[in-house]
Amino acid sequence: MSTYIGIDLGTSGVKLLLVTGDGRILSECTRHYPCLHPKEGRSEQDAQMWYVETLAGLAQLLEGQDRSLVRGIAAAGQMHGLVTLDKEGNLIRPAILWNDGRAQAQTEYLNGIVGKSELSRLTGNVAFAGFTAPKLMWMREHERKNFARISRIMLPKDYLVYRLCGEFSTDCSDAGGTLLFDVKNRAWSQEMCGVCGISEHMLPKVYESFSPVGTLKDTIAEEQGLPRGVTVAAGAGDNAAAAVGMGAVGEGECNISVGTSGTIFISSDKFVPCTNNSLHSFCHADGGWHLLACILSAAASHLWWMKDVLRTSDFAEEEQDLYKRLGKSEVFFLPYLMGERCPHNDPSARAAFIGMSATTSREDMTLAVLEGVAFALNDCLTLAKGSGISVPRATLCGGGAKSRVWRKIISSVLDIPLSVPRTEHGPALGAAMLAMTACGEYPSVRAASRALSSAGRENTSFVIPDGALAEHYAARYQKYRAIYPALKSIF
Ligand code: XUL
Repeated sequence: MSTYIGIDLGTSGVKLLLVTGDGRILSECTRHYPCLHPKEGRSEQDAQMWYVETLAGLAQLLEGQDRSLVRGIAAAGQMHGLVTLDKEGNLIRPAILWNDGRAQAQTEYLNGIVGKSELSRLTGNVAFAGFTAPKLMWMREHERKNFARISRIMLPKDYLVYRLCGEFSTDCSDAGGTLLFDVKNRAWSQEMCGVCGISEHMLPKVYESFSPVGTLKDTIAEEQGLPRGVTVAAGAGDNAAAAVGMGAVGEGECNISVGTSGTIFISSDKFVPCTNNSLHSFCHADGGWHLLACILSAAASHLWWMKDVLRTSDFAEEEQDLYKRLGKSEVFFLPYLMGERCPHNDPSARAAFIGMSATTSREDMTLAVLEGVAFALNDCLTLAKGSGISVPRATLCGGGAKSRVWRKIISSVLDIPLSVPRTEHGPALGAAMLAMTACGEYPSVRAASRALSSAGRENTSFVIPDGALAEHYAARYQKYRAIYPALKSIF
């Protein structure tokens, strides 16, 4: 039976998965790498490192496996990152990532001077600092020499595809996050290229996520012991790929991801941007569309608190007694370590603990972090509800979904049942399904996703909101919402 490789090019590392056409996971491997913050609020990574770590990961993944069966590869990637190449194909500078807030002034220019309604007409979205277009404009203003050298503009996973097969491609789901893309018509926007001072030929050719774009370079195939002619598919933004991996395809399905970022993803058959563009409106990897709300520091807040502050890596031990404290902590945490995307669109926002007393314990603070992220996700759900979208249930994925107590908190704060696969491979599995579809193993992404998704299988656990806790959190959420407006002027 043929096998497929799914790659998830994340912010904290790259995960690779080797999967059979009927969904059996044969091998997996993760390689971690750092995210650099050269200044407060900035976030960068070396794209060369992505490639080096992916190749090292491939070698690890394939150890002891029958390499001759591999037929296709696809990558899912962290969205919005600005990767720039000169005309010789050299990287011009480190990639500026999705959670980088440096382009605040350019974002304000786009939303204020170009205007939100014009941006929405052209792209289906308004500007957020992490999107690619404002970061390009920042580069034009602050790094003129670098900007003048730009020959090609890529998204993170597209750089990987470029190195793996030599093709300059992207897919519709990731292209939407650039703000240079007409999401409704699935094509680059000439007008937005003009606004950013670039020409369309600097942008990659756009494919559907499940389209083949090329074949693995012979040199890499030889090095890795893979057959010649392995298909490389266009791939997808990590949220769209995670949704595919979780079965959130077709109309009205919701997947929530608690990874470095936190996202609420609602799939749709039609292009229907929400009122005020408070949610992003992007293409789905299944050929449809989706709405997305994103908070910048979800599991990132947890990791910061555990590793940088408490200096522990034993998360289970740290969370052991939290169940007993549920509903009792008085402390609030705003998870705005990197500013915030939804709902505030404010790169200057910062994290805060509020409401400690002399009796506040370590557990109370940890609980506040988990609850704060859940409240921030509820801000996103509130945006969706405000646009008339009902979300009666959702699937939950990402590193944060592994914590039993956090799952309970999220379900109770959002007041919806969550299905959580016991073993979950989110974006990497979704990417493998895109490779399968590109190779004709399945007639469509939806067919692959419905047959193989992690959720809905017998290994799924269901988390239902706890009535009393949900009521308690509903009252606390009202207080939480009052904190950001009160602190905004201080940030
Ligand atoms: C979505 C977003 C993040 C990144 C993280 O808009 O910015 O979810 O894709 O990898």
